[in-house]
Amino acid sequence: MEQELRDMEQQAKDKISAAENLDQLEKIRVEFLGKKGNLTTILRKMGQLPEDERPKIGKLANEIRDGLESFLKDRQEELKEKELKEKLEKERIDVTLPGKKIEQGQKHPLNKVLDEINEIFLGMGYTIQDGPEIETDYYNFEALNIPKGHPAREMQDSFYFTDEILLRTHTSPIQARTMEKIAPKLPIRIICTGKVYRKDDDATHSPMFHQVEGLVVDEVITMGDLKGTLLNFARQMFGEKQQIRLRPSYFPFTEPSAEVDISCVICEGSGCRICKNTGWLEILGAGMVHPRVFEMSGYDPEKVTGFAFGMGVERIAMLKYGFDDMRVFFANDKRMFRQFI
Ligand code: PHE
Repeated sequence: MEQELRDMEQQAKDKISAAENLDQLEKIRVEFLGKKGNLTTILRKMGQLPEDERPKIGKLANEIRDGLESFLKDRQEELKEKELKEKLEKERIDVTLPGKKIEQGQKHPLNKVLDEINEIFLGMGYTIQDGPEIETDYYNFEALNIPKGHPAREMQDSFYFTDEILLRTHTSPIQARTMEKIAPKLPIRIICTGKVYRKDDDATHSPMFHQVEGLVVDEVITMGDLKGTLLNFARQMFGEKQQIRLRPSYFPFTEPSAEVDISCVICEGSGCRICKNTGWLEILGAGMVHPRVFEMSGYDPEKVTGFAFGMGVERIAMLKYGFDDMRVFFANDKRMFRQFI
């Protein structure tokens, strides 16, 4: 029986040494030292031995078990290390490889211009208002003295949800909305920036574009105030040398109305391709608030006066950055925008 134990020990050691991985090792452990393993099987036969031999064999069996257990443990450590090494070998990381660059973001040039416009008017004591892009026919047209069937609607064809609800065609509805809210209190001095929508699409017209609306209402507001305000704006935006020019125009919600030009930012007035040799560039529409609009919004046109203006933000950004195609703003080509960091 002693021989049997020793043979088993040798056999176990051989197998343990030959084990290639931790799974195999575990199987070997069960085979030899498990509850139903070889060692137990041998010891079951102890009863057949003469009684005086049993302690000796028992002691030997214990020694063999302890020996095998520590032998197993050593092999286990070895195999663990080997497996880890192999894994690391496979997943080797080259720390000298260049890392992934996180690109720095930047503001869209239109938002930069919008911020700048806001700053200029905030500096003149204006507050910023907001209004819905989905607008009712009433605020987009009626309240601005553009009743149904009025020819001015032709120029502002839009996207309708129903007969009464549409995407606003300009930011002017904010004039009526603001006056309704504040009337009959004075003064009003607000601007509103936002998206507007029209059924136009070419190099200088986009179906969606941005406007800045301005409205000032008080007891005695004159066209001189309008002109001074816009001149101040033009100079802060495009430089101290700027001049502006008001040309008579027509809007149903202002009377008198004007188209406002700034001196050409490219040729400074001497005439070039951009200003079509006129020396002037049109940037906005403006005028004195129409008495009908005051009436509809809750003000007495005998007691208050005011001016309003509306300008295209893309147009200003195009002039500022020298773009000749409005569509670059919405193509989202990062190479284009990277120039403005
Ligand atoms: N809303 C007009 C447009 O989009 C511009 C404008 C605003 C004109 C305010 C006069 C006063 O064409």
